[in-house]
Amino acid sequence: MARTVYLNGEYLPETEASVSIFDRGFLMADGVYEVTSVLGGRLVDFAGHAKRLERSLNALDMKMPMTEEALLEIHRELVRRNDLEDGLIYLQVTRGAPGDRDFIFPDPATTPLTVVLFTQSKPNLADSPEAKRGLKVISIEDIRWGRRDIKTVQLLYPSMGKMMAKAAGADDAWMVEDGKVTEGTSNNAYIVKDGRIITRELSHDILHGITRAAVLRFAEEAQMKVEERSFTIEEAQAADEAFITSASSFVTAVIQIDGVTLGEGVPGPVAQRLRQIYLEESRARAV
Ligand code: PDD
Repeated sequence: MARTVYLNGEYLPETEASVSIFDRGFLMADGVYEVTSVLGGRLVDFAGHAKRLERSLNALDMKMPMTEEALLEIHRELVRRNDLEDGLIYLQVTRGAPGDRDFIFPDPATTPLTVVLFTQSKPNLADSPEAKRGLKVISIEDIRWGRRDIKTVQLLYPSMGKMMAKAAGADDAWMVEDGKVTEGTSNNAYIVKDGRIITRELSHDILHGITRAAVLRFAEEAQMKVEERSFTIEEAQAADEAFITSASSFVTAVIQIDGVTLGEGVPGPVAQRLRQIYLEESRARAV
């Protein structure tokens, strides 16, 4: 069955929604996005995603195309129209289609932003086989641009990273810059050593994960120790545990890094506990 998607004010069958060839998202990756998870038909961390969307847009001289309330209503309407129980809502805002190609930004008064949202049904989202077995990751050099805190649609290198991981028989890649792990291709990276949760501090170097913020808050509420600092691949390989967080993976254990198995090679207790807390709290607070 064709999905119902949202495009610039209209709900349409996916087969009837189209965007101009001059759209700057298509020609220049001039756009930003958000991915919000849906559990039991309700949105997880919606307010956090809406705030980060505004931050990304403002950093690129664009304005929120509508209020947070209006955005929430579109998310909910898509959940309803597509009978979405568990899955994701993808949102993308681009600088629009000025009718030609030009490096100079178009005038927003005459070129409205393009706003697209669609659902992705994932019945096993909170119960995936990968989360049960844990992930194998490889390390790759981080050659992305210098404003990774803006959630742009420039996803070619992360996509290449996933392909490098796949070719190496792994699930994902952790990116490394100046000898330190920045983040995963589409997630934030953590290690656990002697009961301390260690994850890189926020800066322009990484995306400020909405799941990261929630998980660190829950960890502190549960009296777990959190250290925000960068770490090397060698330190990660010698850690007791490792894990990632994102809207699509929640908290998922990492069991192998560049061929080195961590501990027993199964998801560790801290990662499992954080996953459980995160899922419980998220379900309870979902809107
Ligand atoms: N990715 N770092 C990067 C580079 C990401 O692309 C993501 C999310 C995260 C985690 O952010 P959050 O917890 O807000 O989802 C960190 C989404 C899920 C994606 O591209 O599909």
